[in-house]
Amino acid sequence: MGYYVLAADGNPLAVGLKYADKPIVANITSEEEMLKIAREEMIDGVIHPCSEVAMNVMGRINDELGLHGISRNTALKATNKHSMRKAFEAYGAPSPKFYCTANVDEGWRLFQSIEGKAILKPSRNSGSRGVSEIDKSLSYDGFKPLFKRAKEESRDDSVMVEEFVEGPEFSVEIIVWNKEIIILQVTDKKTSEAPFFVELGHSQPSLFPKEIVEAVKSAAVKGVEALGLKDCAAHAEVKVQNGKAYLMEIGARLGGDFISTELTHLSTGIDMVAAAINVSLGVKLDLKQKAEPQGVAIRYFTPKPGIVKAINNTELLNGPGIYDAEIYVKPGDEVREVKSSLDRSGHVIVTAPSAQEAIDKAEELVEKVKIITA
Ligand SMILES: Nc1ncnc2c1ncn2[C@@H]1O[C@H](COP(=O)(O)OP(=O)(O)O)[C@@H](O)[C@H]1O
Ligand SMILES: [Mg+2]
Repeated sequence: MGYYVLAADGNPLAVGLKYADKPIVANITSEEEMLKIAREEMIDGVIHPCSEVAMNVMGRINDELGLHGISRNTALKATNKHSMRKAFEAYGAPSPKFYCTANVDEGWRLFQSIEGKAILKPSRNSGSRGVSEIDKSLSYDGFKPLFKRAKEESRDDSVMVEEFVEGPEFSVEIIVWNKEIIILQVTDKKTSEAPFFVELGHSQPSLFPKEIVEAVKSAAVKGVEALGLKDCAAHAEVKVQNGKAYLMEIGARLGGDFISTELTHLSTGIDMVAAAINVSLGVKLDLKQKAEPQGVAIRYFTPKPGIVKAINNTELLNGPGIYDAEIYVKPGDEVREVKSSLDRSGHVIVTAPSAQEAIDKAEELVEKVKIITA
């Protein structure tokens, strides 16, 4: 894009640093340290692509240097699930019943006040870490360790207790330019079954009927308005129960899991990362389609827990239509039960004329390429 890029990371070995014009090793979670660097370097914009660890820092830099992009206040709202739910509720954006507490006994009491199933999750984290579904058959003794797990995973020690929304899950890939909300794509998501809801795959464009896709988009727009997002990318997660859409959460950033960085680009022909960079700089948006839209799917490898003995048929990952593939484990490594995104063992991204064909091929590959554990 012709921009001069500074990249910052606390780890001198971080893989991205070598791609920057100027790599900077610094604590990106320190507002003061990053603000000082931003001032010295006289930056024109800042972007925190697919993660949330330092969104508040980015917001503070935007505030103090008068840059485009979200404010510190908005960043705080968009990274704390409790504040986010409160903002949705206040604005009338569709959201399930929710509570937040740090106390296990109060958590148990709140769970009793919810009819039917509920979700326990950290009020601050991501990647489905610490998330579990619970139902009325659960005893207090069974509840305690799940609450503790959610609390330990939470960056602010609090746990969300939410009404459980049944049904398929979607994400909506959005660019907000000067408060105009532009939807680039709707993604169908495949998650693991209860209790942990780990994302096992994504595909675009959505294969659901138009009414459902429209309901998903409207919920996402309401959510973006509720958070007051401007000049940023956004990734809204939505579930649809009995035809009604409910917001799960919204990231005021590009979505992870290759969704915003690769899948959206492949399925729409529009470079969403470039768009997110430009909105953060206040450079006029160019959403021209530069490639043909196509169907795209990613599927993750989740072999049985155990020690990896062998990995067979990997040559299949070099076939036509395979955009990218990677196995994260090698013989001798341990594969754990899949309780969060971090426990997945590899991925494959496939493109095809339609999303369904891409899904079929990706699922065939995660079946045929065998990661054998014992
Ligand atoms: N209230 C809920 N009802 C049903 N499923 C939920 C609810 N909250 C979360 N989930 C499930 O758990 C997953 C992770 O929750 P989410 O709030 O997105 O946290 P994370 O930041 O870890 O992605 C969601 O994608 C969804 O599948
Ligand atoms: Mg999520």
